Amino acid sequence: DPVQAPDFTKCGDAHDVASGDALDAKCCPPLPDKITDYKLPPVQIMRIRPAAHRASSEQVAKYEEAIRRMRELDTTDPQDPRGFTQQANIHCAYCNGAHDQVGFNNLDFQVHNSWLFFPFHRWYLYFYERILGSLIGDPTFALPFWNWDNPKGMTLPPIFDNTNSPLYDEKRDPNNRGSAVIDLTFSGSTDNLQLVANNLTSIYSEMVRSVSTTNDFMGKPYCAGTNPSPGGGSSENGSHTGVHWWVGTKDTTGPNKYNEDMGNFYSAGRDPVFYCHHSNVDRMWTIWRDVLKTDVPKDITSENYLNAEFLFYDENKQLVRVKAGDCLDQRRLGYDYDRIDLPWLNYRP
Ligand code: C2O
Repeated sequence: DPVQAPDFTKCGDAHDVASGDALDAKCCPPLPDKITDYKLPPVQIMRIRPAAHRASSEQVAKYEEAIRRMRELDTTDPQDPRGFTQQANIHCAYCNGAHDQVGFNNLDFQVHNSWLFFPFHRWYLYFYERILGSLIGDPTFALPFWNWDNPKGMTLPPIFDNTNSPLYDEKRDPNNRGSAVIDLTFSGSTDNLQLVANNLTSIYSEMVRSVSTTNDFMGKPYCAGTNPSPGGGSSENGSHTGVHWWVGTKDTTGPNKYNEDMGNFYSAGRDPVFYCHHSNVDRMWTIWRDVLKTDVPKDITSENYLNAEFLFYDENKQLVRVKAGDCLDQRRLGYDYDRIDLPWLNYRP
């Protein structure tokens, strides 16, 4: 059977996935009066997500204002599910064992390391983007993506590196800002040209070369009553994890010893760059599915996948139930990505 939407009334404590340590994080969502099945609204205007490093000053100003208003909700109404901390807590609750699988109290609901990874994060960003747009009254608002698969996007996007911006987060690795080039493969190299080549080769591999089945890219089956984390897809395990690790702190003791913010599930959503990173993770799914002409079937057809459920609060603070199978086409969800060239396509090793 497919995993069922979690029961928010049974939400419990969060723990660190790697060590099992209890975390001092209260990340359960507010309880709803009712849950409705989500119906996709008709698409009137397509939101076009821009690359963060190419966003216009008008787009950046709107993004900053929307995040500023979202952060403000933390103080004016901490229980408002649209608030910045509430949005970050979604990730903690679905990823650090706060939610159990319905009917299996000894099994965590876990959205990583399986085929739930792409659809869960797609829905998460979908509502996050709509909330930001509604906070600034702009139905065209589109979440930028961190274009780390292109050499021009292989640094922390500058809009996140401005200490006066609401997009800034101080819990990041201080060595990996400014002009530092991202190291998606944990190579440890300090040669920028080498890093760029490693990154492109590794993206080619996770998109094409090492993908011979649908599950190689999408992740392994995860159904009701089965153990969490059966195995993630090539992109999840590769560049996705590389970016998290690169941005998060590297302390081994002290207040950030769980690699906050980006380097741990429970805290990742507290860094605004998380959503911009996941916008590119989501874009890589669209490229794999729609642009690459490989003969691997692109959609998982199992009912256990298509009917897997999640709950999110929408931009009207209503709790809605969504299914993995309803998010496979981003254009039906009312957004798409700015088209940018894909230099990694030429990096066949
Ligand atoms: Cu839910 Cu990038 O992790």
